[in-house]
Amino acid sequence: MNNPSHPERIIIFDTTLRDGEQSPGATLNVDEKLAIARQLARLGVDVIEAGFPFASPGDAEAVQTIAEQVGIEDGPTICGLARATRQDIEAAARAVRPAAKPRIHTFIATSDIHLKHKLRKTREEVLEIAPEMVAYARSFVDDVEFSPEDAGRSDPEFLYPLLERAIAAGATTINIPDTVGYLTPKEFGELIRGIKENVSNIDQATISVHGHNDLGLAVANFLEAVKNGARQLECTINGIGERAGNAALEELVMALHVRRSFYNPYLGRAPESDEPLTNIDTRQIYKTSRMVSNLTGMLVQPNKAIVGANAFAHESGIHQDGVLKHRLTYEIMDAQSIGLNDNQIVLGKHSGRNAFRTRLRELGYELGDQDLNKAFLRFKELADKKKEVSDWDLEAIVNDEIQQV
Ligand code: KIV
Ligand code: ZN
Repeated sequence: MNNPSHPERIIIFDTTLRDGEQSPGATLNVDEKLAIARQLARLGVDVIEAGFPFASPGDAEAVQTIAEQVGIEDGPTICGLARATRQDIEAAARAVRPAAKPRIHTFIATSDIHLKHKLRKTREEVLEIAPEMVAYARSFVDDVEFSPEDAGRSDPEFLYPLLERAIAAGATTINIPDTVGYLTPKEFGELIRGIKENVSNIDQATISVHGHNDLGLAVANFLEAVKNGARQLECTINGIGERAGNAALEELVMALHVRRSFYNPYLGRAPESDEPLTNIDTRQIYKTSRMVSNLTGMLVQPNKAIVGANAFAHESGIHQDGVLKHRLTYEIMDAQSIGLNDNQIVLGKHSGRNAFRTRLRELGYELGDQDLNKAFLRFKELADKKKEVSDWDLEAIVNDEIQQV
């Protein structure tokens, strides 16, 4: 990426392991986080926000392990979250240090409601703290992201000078969070356009967006933000996250993919260009979704866009007849493009270790020899009792093994 404000593709920043893990009941252990991080790397995300290192020793360990094992050369950037305090930033710096491309993401609240009731600081104080902490983070890493928390409800006239100072202090990404999912698409687009027009040094940073789904508008808001200059999208697999969740990665990526002729011009390309808009390997979407659902215990609703059980199912006779005559009558994308129906191998009691390992790989699991042996024995026991062992059975076996580590 030569010019931060005009990257050639839209940067996909995955926060499943940080904001996603903040979903009630979705806590993940270090091994589970590592397994998901490996799959996110296969999916092709550009940045993995692996956790909030100051929050707990377990999270610090998870971020550090992911930085060591997934944040390799040519791998994704590994990011740790930090409030705008020295202790948080130091914890994040320690955790991301082993990564080839480490990033610290620091944030401070900026809406009047947060300043008064949560942070108990004035705007003037925040104008001092934010650049100081960005500069502190830059003393550890070259890649620093800054977020004005609750930007969606903040006064833009306060945001502009604050962002200008954060960039002057070394922020390389400016992330605009709609923390409580309050904005409508038009408002979010205008907020991004206002920042582009009023922050004098904005061209030195990438504009990112982060949004929650309280009104179900996060994905629509992001697409409007892209039209107005946002070039990094912060999202989670299956849209998990605080309260109603975050913008769903699979929905954003497939919207940009299916409607690329519409979005291409916003990236300065001809509408008919076939250059992908993101680095995501869309065929990894389904298995990533399954893995995250299994390990977090967060079920995917059947009618969920892209990855729900019914997303490619046709129930009514008229629809079935239409699809049989021509798929495009009722399908705007091919199930195989998200990795569904890729492989029809059915595993049973006659299946060998190789087929077992191959199917697990396709589902996104890479087990070491010892774990594979244990899982294979359990698979054989089950296969003796069942005619066909489904992907769901396999995932249950593997998740059990990972959880027992
Ligand atoms: O929703 C939010 O504001 C956040 C920030 C930490 C970026 O998650
Ligand atoms: Zn958030």
